[in-house]
Amino acid sequence: MEYLDLRDWIDRARALGEVRDVLGASWEEDIGHVTEMLHHTDDAPVAVFDDIPGYPKGYRIVANAVATRRRLALTLGLPLDIERRPLMDRFLELTEADRAIPPAVLDDGPVFQNVQTGDDVDVLKFPSPWWHPLDGGRYIGTGVSVVMRDPDTGWINVGTYRVMVHDAKRVGIYIAPGKHGMQMRNAYFERGEPCPIAIVCGMDPLLFMASTLEVPQGVSEYEWIGGIRGEPYPVVTAPITGLPIPATAEIVLEGFLHKDKVAPEGPFGEWHGYYATGKKDEPVLDVEAVYHRDDPILLGVPPNKPPWEPMRYREYLRSAIMLRYMKAAGVPGVTDAWCYAFGGTRLFTVVSIQPRYPGHARQAMHIAAMCHAGAYMGRIVVVVEDDIDVTDLEEVMWAVVTRGDPERSLDIIHRAWSGPIDPAIHPDEKGHNSRLLIDATRPWEWRDRFPPAIGPDPATKADTRRRWGWILDPTASQPDR
Ligand SMILES: Cc1cc2nc3c(=O)[nH]c(=O)nc-3n(C[C@H](O)[C@H](O)[C@H](O)COP(=O)(O)O)c2cc1C
Repeated sequence: MEYLDLRDWIDRARALGEVRDVLGASWEEDIGHVTEMLHHTDDAPVAVFDDIPGYPKGYRIVANAVATRRRLALTLGLPLDIERRPLMDRFLELTEADRAIPPAVLDDGPVFQNVQTGDDVDVLKFPSPWWHPLDGGRYIGTGVSVVMRDPDTGWINVGTYRVMVHDAKRVGIYIAPGKHGMQMRNAYFERGEPCPIAIVCGMDPLLFMASTLEVPQGVSEYEWIGGIRGEPYPVVTAPITGLPIPATAEIVLEGFLHKDKVAPEGPFGEWHGYYATGKKDEPVLDVEAVYHRDDPILLGVPPNKPPWEPMRYREYLRSAIMLRYMKAAGVPGVTDAWCYAFGGTRLFTVVSIQPRYPGHARQAMHIAAMCHAGAYMGRIVVVVEDDIDVTDLEEVMWAVVTRGDPERSLDIIHRAWSGPIDPAIHPDEKGHNSRLLIDATRPWEWRDRFPPAIGPDPATKADTRRRWGWILDPTASQPDR
């Protein structure tokens, strides 16, 4: 792997001409506004905010990091011009279970360059932005990796859960029901024990991406990215909790969550594009220690109306993970999947199959909706045949309206896994939602009599473009015949 930490990664992106330095933007407004602009502009650069008013020069925020396929390829160590499907396939190979490599535990690391404990703890030392105007506070944790340990098995989980600054010594954390971090937290609370936690704010983008993805239950993200990197990921032991934290992390907050220590958290602009939760009591971390590098860099990944930055890598990686879970569930003949960015890569998913037997399409769409990659806060799943390009929404919807018939083609799943932030569910009834499943394959019983579709096969299409494509270019003239 060409880079180790966030600084290295920025240097590599800079060498590719993909970084802009932004001086003097305010944490109160400008940084949130600029980031929103970048998220909603195709191929926008990485922004490194420095000289933030009120903060020392060098205390930086990086935003819009992995917002292009090129920068995703850089992050995964793949060729920069790799196409969509080879990227997904390569990612699946790199994350095969047998590639996992345990982290290397080092004695020391740059994360310990600066240490604050006890009365010295000051979370306000860092320029956490006010990302959206209606947020309930400043969020230090958007591009975070939260490290926790399962009290029964010792499994180390790293997940991205947002972190709000309450004051200089306290932060609040929101974990959705069902997430691994929530399962661990509840396990401690049920035993009457405090829950150890380390919040990493600023780390290499590969660890960040891993902590936002459906890494299987029981597998540590550290081992998972060790497999991608092909070498152990370097960690050090956090002194108070004993949790492993990245040796090269920019900033880490350490302490314990207690069942009875809560404070109002939110509202916060959320991944689907709404402030859906309002203000709710959530656990508070009394920060016992802060570790940070000289001139620390916060990784800023604030939600915006989709598609926003992580959707631009998650549409590749969550779609790949969907293929893995479907295969693991025993669904044969699955050829492709696409979790659309406009739905936050959760709300609208298309899978394609080569239909092999009656009921195959139904099986595929129910598994897509309910496997671990699809279960949380989904909405609509469409299954198409493999002649349809799953990434082409027009083609997908053409299949829906020409091969589907509502009374035969729709299923609804009731009382599925949702949570407090689902904007479509009544404020007093949140918890479950329903799913619309659309079978846009030709009906199995009479597929042989289904009218043939107009249109050349892909080879003829390519040949037409090769021979006649000049017609589409106003500056080109007809080649010699
Ligand atoms: C930028 C970003 C912010 C996120 N914030 C939260 C959050 O505040 N709470 C939450 O439960 N999940 C959040 N998620 C989703 C989780 O990180 C994701 O579901 C991940 O798989 C959780 O890890 P786990 O599967 O180990 O629990 C966020 C994802 C991204 C990309």
